Amino acid sequence: MNTQKPVDAKVRISKDGPYLVSGELPLRKEIIGTNDAEESIKWQPGQEYPAKAQYALCRCGHSATKPFCDGSHAKVGFDGTETASRKPYIEQAEVIRGPTMSLTDVESLCAFARFCDPHGQVWNLVNETDEPTATKQFVSQTCACPSGRLVAWDNATGKPIEPAFAPSIGLIEDPAQRCSGPIWLRGGVQVIGADGFEYEIRNRVTLCRCGASKNKPFCDGAHASIGFSDSQ
Ligand code: FES
Repeated sequence: MNTQKPVDAKVRISKDGPYLVSGELPLRKEIIGTNDAEESIKWQPGQEYPAKAQYALCRCGHSATKPFCDGSHAKVGFDGTETASRKPYIEQAEVIRGPTMSLTDVESLCAFARFCDPHGQVWNLVNETDEPTATKQFVSQTCACPSGRLVAWDNATGKPIEPAFAPSIGLIEDPAQRCSGPIWLRGGVQVIGADGFEYEIRNRVTLCRCGASKNKPFCDGAHASIGFSDSQ
């Protein structure tokens, strides 16, 4: 995968149409790897797509050439109205303070990847962060959350703990749920709304590509309930 920072990488949302990606953002599938208990435990890299300077990613869920747009949004009358809060993440977040670390949580951003669940769930692990094993699990599970719903903070420094990502796009696959998931935008790529609004730049964001989210442009986990598949 290209690890050089692309120049001026952006995702522009077109009105009732696709995501217009520019800045040579690398694109590949990212698969949710599970253990025998079907708990999400690791990200596995999948198919890579040839590098392109610009491309249009399907947002309505109906393209026959997914992940790319084929114009189907116009035929199906896709309503891509952006309804998500535009407040900065931290203003929306619930804070849970533990002994050495804290957790911030914006539930509306949940993309249902379920890395939060193992080892008794991150909402409990944060209260055990005076213990090294629990702290390690808390940090790795929180950092694996693709949407950035969950963020770990170091109480001593007051700083968030974020995974290092080069600017790139992942297309999430969820074999345990037998569905495809959202677009995983990583490394601080600017998202621009159909009205020109510049969303807060974050290290991790998941954008809906099944068309069914009630929190557009972000994924709200609806892809699992509709059984979205990007191979159809
Ligand atoms: S891709 Fe998750 S709700 Fe659409």
